[in-house]
Amino acid sequence: MRHFLIDTDTASDDAVALVMALTDPNIQVEAITLVAGNVPLEQGLQNALYTLELCGKQIPTYGGAAQPLLRELHTAQFVHGTDGMGDIGLSLQGRTPTPGNAIDVIIDTVKAFPNEIELVTLGPLTNIALALAKAPEIATLVKQCTIMGGVGKGRGNITPVSEFNIWVDPEAAKMVFDSGMKMKMVGWDISRNHACIDPALCDEIKAIGTPFAEFCMDIQNTVKNFSTDVTKLPGFDLPDPIAMAIAIDETVATETADVYVEVIIADGLTRGQTVVDHVNVTKKAPNMEVVFEASRVQFLSMLKAAVK
Ligand code: RIB
Ligand code: CA
Repeated sequence: MRHFLIDTDTASDDAVALVMALTDPNIQVEAITLVAGNVPLEQGLQNALYTLELCGKQIPTYGGAAQPLLRELHTAQFVHGTDGMGDIGLSLQGRTPTPGNAIDVIIDTVKAFPNEIELVTLGPLTNIALALAKAPEIATLVKQCTIMGGVGKGRGNITPVSEFNIWVDPEAAKMVFDSGMKMKMVGWDISRNHACIDPALCDEIKAIGTPFAEFCMDIQNTVKNFSTDVTKLPGFDLPDPIAMAIAIDETVATETADVYVEVIIADGLTRGQTVVDHVNVTKKAPNMEVVFEASRVQFLSMLKAAVK
């Protein structure tokens, strides 16, 4: 049995990633920790708890940071909808999270399963940075941390060069990237290039006809418009689900490299840029396994299997 800890800012793509992990018989999700990002913290908690209920799972779910380390919170409700789940009228309130603080839960869970916890981060890295600041020793106890964030090659989605999760809290990301933890970065380029769901494919997945399939496609109601109108993709993309697919099955990543990646702490267009040193001109030791290509076929197969 594998032991996952998922840190998320639960909105419409995070929820699909949660379904993928929660329906995998070989994965025990030890805890879900929430961080502010796509939506304010409380809404993310409600979205995660709703998704758990749909999956019929009882997983300890904790609130964490309600804002970035130093900066004000900028949500992505303009992308995912006010409720983060496509504003389709789901009952996303009134559920109760597990008492406790996400930061301490991250620390305690990693220490309870030394070298076994597979950490998957789907939002800004505020919680992870705070946990590492409080207990730096956990960096060597995490089996692997798969990060949905940054850009391996190409364009950003919140500035021309930056991806949202890193951009929201670049200081936290820099702390995590410099922590020495075993990390794998699945940038937005992987989602843009290999995890785009056009209308025909959306209909095909929805036609599977299960509650999971309908939920996972219906909650993309708002992001699908953003994708076609703003990011000019042929449909919505699923960054967190393809990152989760890679966390579950590393062979989904078809090209990776161990390289040095620096997070830019700045204001303006380069805020939160992940500068990938492809040919080691900095002479700095690699701190990240960056995913540069992935298998769309394998990803879609895993996604369809999860929602059956
Ligand atoms: O840039 C994409 C990332 O930002 C995804 O994790 C999405 O859920 C948002 O958090
Ligand atoms: Ca997310």
